[in-house]
Amino acid sequence: MAQRADPSTSAGFRALCDDLGLCFGGDYNPEQWPRSVWNDDVELMVRAGVNLVTVGVFSWAAIEPSPGERAFGWLDDVLDLLHRNGIAVDLATPTASPPPWLGHLHPETLPVDADGVRLVAGSRNQFSPASAVYRSHALAIARDLAERYADHPAVRMWHVGNEYGQLDHGDEAAREFRGWLKRRYGTIERLNDVWGTTVWSQAYRSFDEILPPRRTPYLVNPAQSLDFRRYTSDQLLLCYTEQRDAIRATGARQPITTNFMGFFPHVDYWSWSDEVDVVADDEYPDPASEHAAADIALVQDLMRSLGHGRPWMLMEQAIGAVSWREHNLPKTSGAARLGVLQAVAHGADGVAFFQWRQSHSGAERFHSAMVPHAGADTEVFRGVERLGADLRRLKPVVGHSVEASVGILFGWPSWWAGEEPARPTGRLRTLEQVQRWYRELWRRGVAADVVRPGAELDVYRVVLVPHSYLIEPDTAAALHRAVAAGTRVVIGPFSGVADRNGRILQGRSPVLLHELIGASGEEWTALPEGPTLLQVDEAWDVGAPVAATASVFAERLRSDGAEVLAMFGDGALAGHPAVTRHRFAGGRVWYLGAIVSDALLSAVIDDALQDAGVENALGEAVLPGRPLPVGLEAVRRGSALFLLNHGSEAAQVTLPATMHDLLTNSEVGRAVAVQPGAAMVLIEGLTQ
Ligand code: GAL
Repeated sequence: MAQRADPSTSAGFRALCDDLGLCFGGDYNPEQWPRSVWNDDVELMVRAGVNLVTVGVFSWAAIEPSPGERAFGWLDDVLDLLHRNGIAVDLATPTASPPPWLGHLHPETLPVDADGVRLVAGSRNQFSPASAVYRSHALAIARDLAERYADHPAVRMWHVGNEYGQLDHGDEAAREFRGWLKRRYGTIERLNDVWGTTVWSQAYRSFDEILPPRRTPYLVNPAQSLDFRRYTSDQLLLCYTEQRDAIRATGARQPITTNFMGFFPHVDYWSWSDEVDVVADDEYPDPASEHAAADIALVQDLMRSLGHGRPWMLMEQAIGAVSWREHNLPKTSGAARLGVLQAVAHGADGVAFFQWRQSHSGAERFHSAMVPHAGADTEVFRGVERLGADLRRLKPVVGHSVEASVGILFGWPSWWAGEEPARPTGRLRTLEQVQRWYRELWRRGVAADVVRPGAELDVYRVVLVPHSYLIEPDTAAALHRAVAAGTRVVIGPFSGVADRNGRILQGRSPVLLHELIGASGEEWTALPEGPTLLQVDEAWDVGAPVAATASVFAERLRSDGAEVLAMFGDGALAGHPAVTRHRFAGGRVWYLGAIVSDALLSAVIDDALQDAGVENALGEAVLPGRPLPVGLEAVRRGSALFLLNHGSEAAQVTLPATMHDLLTNSEVGRAVAVQPGAAMVLIEGLTQ
């Protein structure tokens, strides 16, 4: 990689927020509107307290109407207008959506899917990340933009491309993939060994014979598939870094970023996050999901963790409904407000929407926007004004982070390898398990970081490993060190199964962890439909009786010294442990040899949190069976306590002290009721 993110420009986002306060705005696409509308736009932005807009994400055709031409005049005027009105700009390179002429003149710039179909212009994102011609055109426009605007006073941030995630199986992708494999393996013999090509007569004589995993008669080699995913993530990263470096080479000093997409399946954000000056994310939780609030909190904790705890930016979200689901339930303006405050609670120093003004045409004509078709005399826009006012009051949280005592292990290659086809069950899904486990923390008000494989883990009191199919020796060693130092670790089923290339580790499982666990397995098995009964050990104090069942997947385990907290009561595994607990040096390890019921999972997590002495955001010890009121989210960011009621009942909370609500600028006593849909941001001892 040419250069990493630059520490001085990483600090640039902090400086920007010290200057502006929390960033607030949205994607601004003035090229869709006549100039007369621009003046209204800016007037409304000022009214709402918008201080940062992203310009140019889809402006390639407007800037380069024909190959090599540059039409910058309109953009000069937009940037000048915004600057005159005190609105900063996050200027995008428009490289996510090439104009039709590029694919027309150079069909090789268009991506090819796994079935060999070349995708064409008429939508967006039609580029091959492997195409040399695409990349040179993208670089040229990024460089010219940066040369022209690096010193423009409106430009305070750069936004490269948009939501990198394109897949391509074409001939140029094949060439780049082969180069990537050569760099990784050196020789074809090594590749054959790692990929296990003796199976099904797949041995390659040279790298030239290797193809991306295109349509095959039957199952693709899972190691080939895993490497193609790694290559795809790296190739997309190259598209980002080369534009970033071109911008930097013009002398631009602003922070540079691109927008992530939460747990996006095609890009390994752990390998990207140190390449951006500020982590930025696009979040579109489905209002129809009962778990939306907890699941998006997990994404937000991932974003904070990707940036090593530093403030991040919520780059895109919907103010109401999106338009790309089959059935698009809108957020109410109250829910949109809670969503914004939630991002800030989890460490965001900026929140922006897609988009500023709703498009009258095009595929997103029904996607909500800050200024809807009906204009500013609307509930939506009044909600936007209210948000601007709220965010101004939260300036004291800028720069602060969330201290978490729990870490959740998650890595993309493990997710990829763990979901290749042809497993004991296709119903064990990594992200689902991570979400289930995280929700247990969320409803207790316990803060968590998401932790990358290989990181040191002893900084956490509790580490959760919901499902890590791949566990490499460095992660296994970090787990051993952490437990030795007193950390409590809870490990879920089908973890530590394979090595980094997806090759199944030989021996009783999990091969690298069974001494730590004090139990080991010899068979992975799908369970029959319906719940399988488990018996909970009577000596295990879990507060109240627990509905203990397993479903979908289990392991044939035996205890090698661990206590058995629950065992199979019937079925083929009757009498075998399902949940174990083991003291190892200064710490303790729980192992779940099955997908267990929510109640049992909750009891295990309570046990570990209590054993480790973890406290919730209110400063209370976590006690078995005592979560926060339903729907209440409690997060401590720096010294500010965020209470957000996503539920439908008032939540009664006892605060550690009398506090001051930044949102209402008033004192609150120790006993507070947080109304449904309401929020408080409380700090101790403020005298304003
Ligand atoms: C994002 C994208 C935006 C807009 C938005 C709609 O994926 O970056 O340009 O399309 O979705 O929800």
